[in-house]
Amino acid sequence: MNGLHPDLARILVPEETIQAHVKVLAHQISLDYADKGTIYLVGVLRGAFIFLADLVRYLTIPHVVDFMSVSSYGKSTESGVVRIVLDLREPIEGQHVIIVEDIVDSGKTLSYLYTMLKSRNPASLRTCTLVQKPKRPLDVPVDYLGFKIPDVWVVGYGLDYADKHRTLPYIAELKPSVYTR
Ligand code: IMP
Ligand code: MG
Repeated sequence: MNGLHPDLARILVPEETIQAHVKVLAHQISLDYADKGTIYLVGVLRGAFIFLADLVRYLTIPHVVDFMSVSSYGKSTESGVVRIVLDLREPIEGQHVIIVEDIVDSGKTLSYLYTMLKSRNPASLRTCTLVQKPKRPLDVPVDYLGFKIPDVWVVGYGLDYADKHRTLPYIAELKPSVYTR
């Protein structure tokens, strides 16, 4: 129906809603850091690249973009951080840093990155994630959040399942039959 891919159960967040929320997040960040000089945004690859690309184009304050990538064990729907695959190019000591993630599920990825970047002595460290699933309480603050979503596997707007569906303009729920196969 409506040309939805057969792997997908339904659209959870339509494109217009995502764009409206990304704009609001960028506005809030621009206000919060208005007097802080250049901020340093750390995008977590690969999932966050589309969100980050839209977010930075709505920012009205000076900013620098860099990326990190971490690897995890397990199948594509499990998490558990192992190591840094790609690190930042420059030291972040004394910088106002925001980690930009696509999604927080167990919170392990964000918590790992947060602890590691905090140890590099930034002037401040905050986190921004597009979506969050309602799991256990996190041991890391989510300072900027786009949406809370149900505990289902989602794809689109940067999020993938086994590298598929990443570039859909909306966020959709993957049919459980696809990942329990
Ligand atoms: P966490 O460490 O459990 O919070 O997992 C976070 C990472 O798992 C995210 O950065 C995503 O790469 C991936 N992830 C978790 N849930 C989903 C999902 O529903 N769709 C796509 N990727 C997900
Ligand atoms: Mg990710």
